[in-house]
Amino acid sequence: MEDTVVRKKIFSGIQPSGELTLGSYMGAIRNWNALQAEYDCIYCIVDLHAITVRQDPAQLRRRCLTQLAQYVACGLDPEKCILFVQSHVPEHTELAWILGCYTQFGELSRMTQFKQKSQQHADNITAGLFTYPVLMASDILLYQADAVPVGADQKQHVELCRDIAQRFNGIYGDVFTLPEPLIPKVGARIMSLNNPLNKMSKSDPEGCVNLLDKPEDIRRKFKRAVTDSETSVRFDPDAKPGVSNLLTIYSTASGKSVEEAEAEFSGQGYGAFKTAVGDAVIELFRPIREESERLLSDKAYLEQIYRQGAERAHGIAIRTLRKVHRKLGFLSR
Ligand code: TYM
Repeated sequence: MEDTVVRKKIFSGIQPSGELTLGSYMGAIRNWNALQAEYDCIYCIVDLHAITVRQDPAQLRRRCLTQLAQYVACGLDPEKCILFVQSHVPEHTELAWILGCYTQFGELSRMTQFKQKSQQHADNITAGLFTYPVLMASDILLYQADAVPVGADQKQHVELCRDIAQRFNGIYGDVFTLPEPLIPKVGARIMSLNNPLNKMSKSDPEGCVNLLDKPEDIRRKFKRAVTDSETSVRFDPDAKPGVSNLLTIYSTASGKSVEEAEAEFSGQGYGAFKTAVGDAVIELFRPIREESERLLSDKAYLEQIYRQGAERAHGIAIRTLRKVHRKLGFLSR
């Protein structure tokens, strides 16, 4: 008899609330790519999460498709992993309701992202924004994911997911796999080019580089990147946050270590260094941009990917949800 090796499961997602950024590439997608060969990977476009703040409908539709094209262009292979859109699999919202009944108000109040976003959107602090981490827990637990590759900012949400799963398992037995966050050693927190004390984020266009930015825009953004009043290219995140961020970006984009990068630019001014970082990112993103554009002209292919992805995802999700219903004591239909 052949041995059947049970492969570990990976789940992750990105909101289509803006363009994919250098931050989400380095913090998440790069890792997603590397994991495909060894694990059963499920990668989602989390559109339900995106509507926790207002979205323009036409733009949201366009961004979901563009994001899928970028997933594929970054190397995520629809034959190897499941690529799908969250709203196509209704089990996500169903399980989220149930998990919400096992999550404390106090736990959600402590979430850093909720505190930040409710400041940014002070006129529209919705229940959805508050319960966002419960939907994220549902995404992960539905697929019994062993690990969740994310940037450092999402660690707290994955930890809450574990707490919810542990609480649920404590009452009903082993229902959910407890997931581990997978945070990259380098690139887990890429900072804004404008203000290196803030995380690079879609809401700050000049401090943020997008995967689909034109080379001249990438060059301009790196030229203007905030550094410091010294001249030495040295990695020291506390004293030199701007330069250290650029070194991290260069190291990740070029495949060289931070030490190698420091040596390469020793004795050179910031001007040459910034140009080199910009060029490395341009070359990293060039094939991704070109392949995304090509894929976007083949909408039928993209539709086929997300339809098949939703079907496969649904097949897994429904099994978990049925188990949860049984455990809770819901009558079966
Ligand atoms: P989102 O859409 O804000 O970000 C997507 C992924 O990119 C990472 N990231 C970064 N990493 C390094 N530096 C940065 N500047 C940077 N900006 C973003 C994020 O850590 C994330 O991994 N709640 C999630 C989406 C989500 C999810 C999930 C993730 C919904 N359900 C289930 C994992 C599993 C979010 O808002 O990511």
